[in-house]
Amino acid sequence: MNVKVVPEAKAVGREAARAVAAFILRHPRTVLGLATGTTMVPFYEDLVRLYREGLLDFSQVTTFNLDEYCGVGADDPRSYHSFMREHLFRWVNLDATRIHLPDGMVEDAGSECERYEAVIDGAGGIDLQVLGIGVNGHIGFNEPHTGLGTITHVTNLDPGTVTRNQRVTGATEPLPHTAISVGVKTIMRARHLLLLAFGRDKAEALSQALEGPITDEVPASVLQLHPDLRVILDQDAAAKLQKTFLS
Ligand code: GLP
Repeated sequence: MNVKVVPEAKAVGREAARAVAAFILRHPRTVLGLATGTTMVPFYEDLVRLYREGLLDFSQVTTFNLDEYCGVGADDPRSYHSFMREHLFRWVNLDATRIHLPDGMVEDAGSECERYEAVIDGAGGIDLQVLGIGVNGHIGFNEPHTGLGTITHVTNLDPGTVTRNQRVTGATEPLPHTAISVGVKTIMRARHLLLLAFGRDKAEALSQALEGPITDEVPASVLQLHPDLRVILDQDAAAKLQKTFLS
């Protein structure tokens, strides 16, 4: 595990964008795992900036997002389809046929999960997966006590997750309580992982995830077992870590 602590949120985004840009420069056909949430906003801002400056070419990159709410269409402002369009896809030269998110509107969500997992496999798996973390230690929408051996599945969201996401996204319509999420096993199969977090409310989750026991009570704790985990945190998010990580 490689942990870097930087002064504040914007620096988390900047460091992460640089790391992803360097990866894509080395591997133009990268299969990139993407995440949503407020943590990703400064990261995508910097990625778009690097693209505009001519440093980045996404034309051969394939993307897979971690999750999507059930019953929310791609044009609904609550959807992660919308989030991704707004913060990344509309600004860069990704090929629309290489962009993938679970479809939250399908009648048979179980088949959609199987299809999504198969498309990831067909692309050769994820090369680099970017991750945020929930205040309860969730990754993707893998909530506590949902097991560490999952692949893409339909999941019930914790009430606390829905309440927080409702607040931070400012969505007026209520958010669904179910979602399709890539599983913990799918995440762990990615060849490289990049975990980002900032803010004091993430400090406890990070302490448990990075330094606590590996348990499905804290799904992110399994990341300790990944052979190539890079973590970028601001000082607030790193506040409860015991080890001193040099920045
Ligand atoms: C959301 C997403 C996760 C994200 C996490 C943190 O519910 N499904 O992929 O990492 O919660 O969200 P935020 O960055 O807004 O704190």
